Amino acid sequence: MPNRTDAISLLKADHEKVRGLLSQLEKSTERSAAKRETLLAQLETEILVHTTIEEEIFYPAYREAVSKKEDRKLYQEAIEEHHVVDLVMPEVKEADPSSEIFAAKAKVLKELIEHHAEEEEKEMFKRAKKAFEAEELKELGERMLARKEELMEEMEGGQAGARKSRQGGRGKQRMANGHDQHMPPRSTRRGGASREQTAH
Ligand SMILES: [Fe+2]
Ligand SMILES: [Fe+2]
Repeated sequence: MPNRTDAISLLKADHEKVRGLLSQLEKSTERSAAKRETLLAQLETEILVHTTIEEEIFYPAYREAVSKKEDRKLYQEAIEEHHVVDLVMPEVKEADPSSEIFAAKAKVLKELIEHHAEEEEKEMFKRAKKAFEAEELKELGERMLARKEELMEEMEGGQAGARKSRQGGRGKQRMANGHDQHMPPRSTRRGGASREQTAH
């Protein structure tokens, strides 16, 4: 099989894509509300797919492979950071894209994600390179790629299409919730994220 993607290259490529979307979102203005919504929907899909393959495949393998306490600590921290992103994302989605508060919340999201991705690249991935054989990284990469394609397909078709037509084109950002049922480990977290917390 030519050019087999290793796990770390695959995850880093995802990070680059997300970084690009985050900077576009930061540069967008209050006058381009529709663009902001599109970017946010793309971001949400990318993040959901990426964090799912990390949590389902890469993180557990990493945790198994490393032996030091500090290496294991990174695993736990990464899970917690995903959780914080899950809490902030619905808030950005709730904010009016033509408001200043949207930009402020989007910036917080950007900083959180950038910090997390950097920590993975500089800490966890470095340690993973030592803990895994090259062949193991390629096998993990293949498994993640297959899962990623499956998740993307689920999101682009079926249920998402139905939601899209019902919710006037904002289907992509909503379908994440619709797919929770297929991803039991994440469902409690995402299901709990409320869209109704707008009281203040
Ligand atoms: Fe992550
Ligand atoms: Fe990541």
